[in-house]
Amino acid sequence: MKVKINGQELEAREGETILELCLRHDIPIPHLCYHPAFGGQGACRMCLVELKEPGRVNNRLVASCTYPIHSSVEVTTESERVHRLRRNIVMLLARRASQNPWMKELVEQYGAPSLPPVQTEPADCILCGLCNHACEKMGKTAIWSMFRGIEKRIATPYDEAADECMGCAACAQICPTQAIKVEEDAATRTIWNKKFELVACRRCGKNFATREQIEYMRESSGYEVDELCDHCRKLTLAQNVRHYSR
Ligand code: SF4
Ligand code: SF4
Ligand code: FES
Repeated sequence: MKVKINGQELEAREGETILELCLRHDIPIPHLCYHPAFGGQGACRMCLVELKEPGRVNNRLVASCTYPIHSSVEVTTESERVHRLRRNIVMLLARRASQNPWMKELVEQYGAPSLPPVQTEPADCILCGLCNHACEKMGKTAIWSMFRGIEKRIATPYDEAADECMGCAACAQICPTQAIKVEEDAATRTIWNKKFELVACRRCGKNFATREQIEYMRESSGYEVDELCDHCRKLTLAQNVRHYSR
């Protein structure tokens, strides 16, 4: 399917969204709640673009991360209208996370006026939802979107150490604003008010997982888990293949 992006004709793949097509061709569109691992959520609206569809007179605005290309549309990724809307979104998000360095950069980039901050905890969270998706992807539901309106935030139930949490830190790694605090020393990791024992790779000696993560892998696979980090697991596998193919 051929589409026009900013006047340039491009070939879209089957089922591809406007955002994915643009990212594949290095056409920048800001996106806060999209991640290649989960696709678009349509939550932050930062990825809005102007769309001209066949047979329609007026352009309309769509979230490019959730718009699958199914006809020969024309897309404008930057326009006065788009910029104005993104600036408003940044202005509102900055009320939640006014001191976050990444948010400050966006405020500057879009020239967003500053509004009085909304007092929420954690002060860096922009409610993009990526951490929830990461947790679900890991097979857990340890964190939730709690409360409503300006009180809304991501947390464990009652802010207590959740049985469901295995301390994998996938949620923290995906968070675009580093809102999820992780503390580590030589032997432990603390995240979401819960402390975990770290397990060292039996080959290279580097910490690579928590004890709970390994237990979870063991339970869900039904197999003994060799305590090796990804790098050493691949090395061991390659050595075994060489050994048995001699
Ligand atoms: S650290 Fe806990 S909350 Fe975060 S992804 Fe892992 S299991 Fe979920
Ligand atoms: S904690 Fe981070 S990943 Fe989770 S919703 Fe807030 S900004 Fe998004
Ligand atoms: S990236 Fe599309 S709505 Fe957030």
